[in-house]
Amino acid sequence: DWTMGNFIEMEINKIREQVGDKKVLLGLSGGVDSSVVGVLLQKAIGDQLTCIFVDHGLLRKGEAEQVMDSLAGKFGLNIIKVDAKKRFLDKLTGVSDPEEKRKIIGNEFVYVFDDEATKLDGIDFLAQGTLYTDIVESGTETAQTIKSHHNVGGLPEDMQFELIEPLNTLFKDEVRALGIELGMPEALVWRQPFPGPGLGIRVLGEITEDKLEIVRNSDAILREEIANAGLDRDIWQYFTVLPGIRSVGVMGDGRTYDYTVGIRAVTSIDGMTADFARIPWDVLQKISVRIVNEVDHVNRIVYDITSKPPATVEWE
Ligand code: XMP
Repeated sequence: DWTMGNFIEMEINKIREQVGDKKVLLGLSGGVDSSVVGVLLQKAIGDQLTCIFVDHGLLRKGEAEQVMDSLAGKFGLNIIKVDAKKRFLDKLTGVSDPEEKRKIIGNEFVYVFDDEATKLDGIDFLAQGTLYTDIVESGTETAQTIKSHHNVGGLPEDMQFELIEPLNTLFKDEVRALGIELGMPEALVWRQPFPGPGLGIRVLGEITEDKLEIVRNSDAILREEIANAGLDRDIWQYFTVLPGIRSVGVMGDGRTYDYTVGIRAVTSIDGMTADFARIPWDVLQKISVRIVNEVDHVNRIVYDITSKPPATVEWE
């Protein structure tokens, strides 16, 4: 009988046989797939696994800490955390075109990963969180971009790796079930899709640390209230964006001239098409009040009511 328990046991044996006493490298993104691969490999080969986690400074609030606390802390993975915030921000200074930003972030990601990987000795294998759907539907946007971020082709030419892809027979829901079976926290296993370029494409136009802070803080409030309302499993993706426009408002007896924050929340099956989520008005009101009160330099909240198509999920 096929059960998740059997699958884990079989995969662990397979990995042990393949790896022997050699060493494996894994790039952790903070996402479900690479995290599950990490925990599975840790169970199979322990310290023969080294993970590299690149913090590009474009993650959501608390996310890097959560990855380290859970994966390095609770599960004992050997993780090299690279603080590359400055490196990414420097490269992005003065850049406002969305595709240009994507390219810079994607390339920089590979450079940082390579720099760290080159410092390691005697690695024979590279593990990846490739899913069955990444192989059969490699035409989808998400799969393509994920590939460009974890591309073997981006590694130095003198490094030769053999690939380990333990999830390549599984669908997303099976990966989640596997994560739960491995004892991983629900917050990680049910993490909503998050783009490789991260908050870099949610600050529209040029990225600054101040603007990132507004998106990070407003997004954290949105996520908290969506969870409080019990809507986190029903909505495919929900986040805030900073369009960069400022407008007039009034606070106390003073005039303000501050930023507008946009709320984007969609229901979807695969991200290819999407509909805006019908979040109840009272939940939206609570989110709006909290963001304006708690996040500096924000005086207006708008809700995106377009579907995809004609809009996209992200604003860039
Ligand atoms: P769009 O905005 O194209 O988004 O409707 C569809 C899905 O893809 C995600 N997305 C990306 N994922 N790199 C990624 O890894 C990217 O550059 C990227 N752009 C969009 C988006 O979050 C949504 O889930």
